[in-house]
Amino acid sequence: MTEIVVRDRVFTEYISAADLQDNIVQLSERIANDFASEEVFFLGVLNGSFMFFSDLMKAYPHPCQLGFIRAASYKGMESSGSVKFREAEDLDIKGKDVIIVEDIVDTGNTLKALFEFLKRYEPRSLKVCTLLFKREAYKASLPIDYVCFEVKNKFLLGYGLDFDGLGRNTDSIYILKDETR
Ligand code: IMP
Ligand code: MG
Repeated sequence: MTEIVVRDRVFTEYISAADLQDNIVQLSERIANDFASEEVFFLGVLNGSFMFFSDLMKAYPHPCQLGFIRAASYKGMESSGSVKFREAEDLDIKGKDVIIVEDIVDTGNTLKALFEFLKRYEPRSLKVCTLLFKREAYKASLPIDYVCFEVKNKFLLGYGLDFDGLGRNTDSIYILKDETR
């Protein structure tokens, strides 16, 4: 399927399922090499990262720990600016090497707030791994350690990313077409 329609907006395929899987396997191997046999804690940011997180974990060759945190900052197609986190009560990352796993880094607001939020849990180190990076939109200064794909500064959908709660359930990524149906 090369086009999908969500709430009258037309989206066209942008990154195929095969390309996603190829880059995810490569990225997973890169992380494994960087950390050798050290244990890593992968922290997935819900909901958007759930598919990427799963495929990244399946490709990761060493034993590791994992957990999730929930963040929300988007309403429709605009970042709302304020970010909230939930479900972190039993987050056991003290003294651990943590890799945050994001679906997409856009302005970087979510990431900045998440770094601040996680500091109180005293991880030994904090790194960032994102499936998609909108470099043009990025306003923060935190380094993004692992990027699977750099993407255009346009609204993307699928493979975990939603528009108004819809469209997360595809195996490829779609981009907004400049037309309405
Ligand atoms: P940031 O705080 O501006 O970096 O935005 C981060 C969050 O906004 C991501 O984790 C996504 O949940 C959401 N987001 C940013 N860009 C897109 C997009 O193109 N499509 C869908 N969600 C997006
Ligand atoms: Mg997200």
